[in-house]
Amino acid sequence: MNQAALHQLLSLKLKKKNSDDLFELRLATNLSLLKDLFFTIYDKEEDFHSLLQKLTLLYKKRPSHLKEQDIARLGQGNWYQSENLVGMQLYVDHFNGDLKGLEEKLDYFENLGVNFLHLMPITTRPKDENDGGYAVNSYTKIDPRYGTQKDLQRLTQKFRERNMYLMLDFVVNHTSDEHEWAKKAKAGNNDYQGYYYTYPDRTVPDMFEKGLPEVFPETSPGNYTYIPEMGNWVMTVFNSYQWDLNYTNPKVFLEMLTNLTALSNMGVDVVRFDALAFLWKKMGTDSQNLPEAHHIISLFRMCLQVIAPGTILLAEAIVAPTQILKYFGEGAKKGNECEVAYNASLMALLWNSIATKKTALLHKSITAVPQKPDDCTWINYIRCHDDIGLGLDDTYIQELGWNPQGHRKFLLDYYCQRTDWSPAKGMLFMYNPKSGDGRITGSAASLLGLEKGITTKDKELIGQSIAKINMLHGIILSFGGIPLIYAGDEIGTLNDYSFLKDTAKKEDNRWVNRPQQDWELIETLEKGVTPQSKIYHTLKQLISIRKNTPVFADKNNLILQYAGNEHILVFERTSSSKKGVLVLCNFDDNPQVVDGSLLSKLNYLKDQIYHDVINDNTVTLNSGFLELAPYQLLWLKQF
Ligand code: GLC
Repeated sequence: MNQAALHQLLSLKLKKKNSDDLFELRLATNLSLLKDLFFTIYDKEEDFHSLLQKLTLLYKKRPSHLKEQDIARLGQGNWYQSENLVGMQLYVDHFNGDLKGLEEKLDYFENLGVNFLHLMPITTRPKDENDGGYAVNSYTKIDPRYGTQKDLQRLTQKFRERNMYLMLDFVVNHTSDEHEWAKKAKAGNNDYQGYYYTYPDRTVPDMFEKGLPEVFPETSPGNYTYIPEMGNWVMTVFNSYQWDLNYTNPKVFLEMLTNLTALSNMGVDVVRFDALAFLWKKMGTDSQNLPEAHHIISLFRMCLQVIAPGTILLAEAIVAPTQILKYFGEGAKKGNECEVAYNASLMALLWNSIATKKTALLHKSITAVPQKPDDCTWINYIRCHDDIGLGLDDTYIQELGWNPQGHRKFLLDYYCQRTDWSPAKGMLFMYNPKSGDGRITGSAASLLGLEKGITTKDKELIGQSIAKINMLHGIILSFGGIPLIYAGDEIGTLNDYSFLKDTAKKEDNRWVNRPQQDWELIETLEKGVTPQSKIYHTLKQLISIRKNTPVFADKNNLILQYAGNEHILVFERTSSSKKGVLVLCNFDDNPQVVDGSLLSKLNYLKDQIYHDVINDNTVTLNSGFLELAPYQLLWLKQF
């Protein structure tokens, strides 16, 4: 049982207690874990006392309506695992101008069935390059281009009225070089220089560099930047204007806890812990996923749980599958780190399956990942604002008889316009000609052939790309966890090349997949049968089916099967009390068959007759072969 479950139990048992008493109880319940975690990283008693005082202070500042919501949520169990949640990620300015503009579009989300929003960073940032707001000047001041604190407050109030959830970023690893701490450090203030990793010369940086990979080798090579005003080198793992925070300094933890709580007090339900794998640095290592980083995350989690138990954490750890699992917490920290993590492996494997038209690597890799803790869940997604990294496991690639380097080259060729025959129109991101490593950018629709299909007026290609988009959406909607649709993908938005004309963006081609929402096109969705309206209406239908399929809630009830056809992905969502669903997808551009009798023997659901809920047909499994059209998705529900 994790700490959250203990709090749920306590608040149910002690229903009549008031909110302040429950706070004291939560503190008492988490105290020994807090102490253990704190003293694993820090050593001064006085700092621990400061932390305890801070918890009370921060709790007092929490608005009363959110305190009430916290208690109500404790009574609801794991709300984030429900089949009712469907998310969308968006840039506020690209979506509809600002926060007020977003508020005007709440009906749009409701209509589609979206009730969980991830808004990209909205706080102040440097004027020019700012990594899409991930270089933060402040953790709490809303950038005037988006609106005001008041606008955000009103928006979150509206969210609560409509039972919508909000996710915002907590850029926990770094600030911009214009943050007030960085400014004070530049001005020579020693205390604030200690908030970052600063060095008078290259001795330590050079030793560190030996183990450190580069995140943006093309635009920001190396991991340190010389700051002339300060006369020091500062650690900048991401861009040169993003300074890494020094968590060996307890003051940094305490200040960041204040910022985290302020975010939660703005009415945020899920806090996205940005780039959290990088929180601790150790010479001789790659300074990612270190045990100390996990201690810090768990310490944040245990503190916020005492102050604001209704707010949960998402791990943005785009790392190897076995490493991702660790962000749910291990050992004493099991279930006590982040409740949610991005399923980056599934995302990369889906793109691999599209390019190879085969599902073996997906099957092998997913089945090899140990089960996550029951109280945790995934964000399942196809595209987001970032690049697609080829985070595939070389061992499994080799087991399939492929050469890992050759296979990665094939994927980059396929997606990044390095072959004529591929339908994809992606771009190469951070390509290293020496190693051949690179990542992929581009919108889902352009990567899946819609852009090429439209420009070459190739009807077959257009049809195929629509089917692929629908199938991938269908997978993330039925795989368990929170499906997160990237704004624009619901209408098959193509690449946006306008970034090439903007000096602050042109070096970073992730902007090709950060388009403006096309409201004119949206107006036409009901009028004609266009590719965009087909994508939109299918997605809407799939969302509505998901919400009426309780077995799609995440109860660790997914079983991957192999149905004897390498092009077909099969998985089951099972339940002892609810109707199960068999999901089948054909990744090939030819029709493919599965042996119905084999399938009925494989499956846990052990039924012969199913309801095809997407096409409203009856499917009998033992009557010979079941045929799937190219890129067809089937959701077969038990009768
Ligand atoms: C995360 C964000 C990415 C950003 C990076 C640095 O990975 O998703 O967009 O560049 O963090 O903050």
